[in-house]
Amino acid sequence: MSGWSRVCRIEEIPVLGARVIEAAHASGDDVAIFRTADDRVFALRDRCPHKGGPLSQGIVFGESVACPLHGWNIDLTSGCAHAPDRGCAQRVAVHVDAGTVYLKTGDGAPRVSTFQPAEQAVEQAAVRD
Ligand code: FES
Repeated sequence: MSGWSRVCRIEEIPVLGARVIEAAHASGDDVAIFRTADDRVFALRDRCPHKGGPLSQGIVFGESVACPLHGWNIDLTSGCAHAPDRGCAQRVAVHVDAGTVYLKTGDGAPRVSTFQPAEQAVEQAAVRD
């Protein structure tokens, strides 16, 4: 599968959480991979369309994630903010095959490096506060 990179097993993504794939977006930004309660997986550029907050550290509910900075709700299926807010985080193609998660990273060399559970990042942020 050209341009697809294996990133992890689905069980390595916390339910109602996310993992970060560093620099996997064409822009050089991180990509957040989210897992819903019913094991669906979505990927977005890890930048809120409001002011660039890390969506990977937000709270996943239903098919949405609440940005941790100012609480905008972003639809995981479209990447767009729920009204009345406006703007979209870019979607990244992702699919799961036999429990393995693959991310579309382009036809060049995969830029997948490490990933970090969102809850771990939140805990680290709490320690710094
Ligand atoms: S940066 Fe996400 S709501 Fe403000």
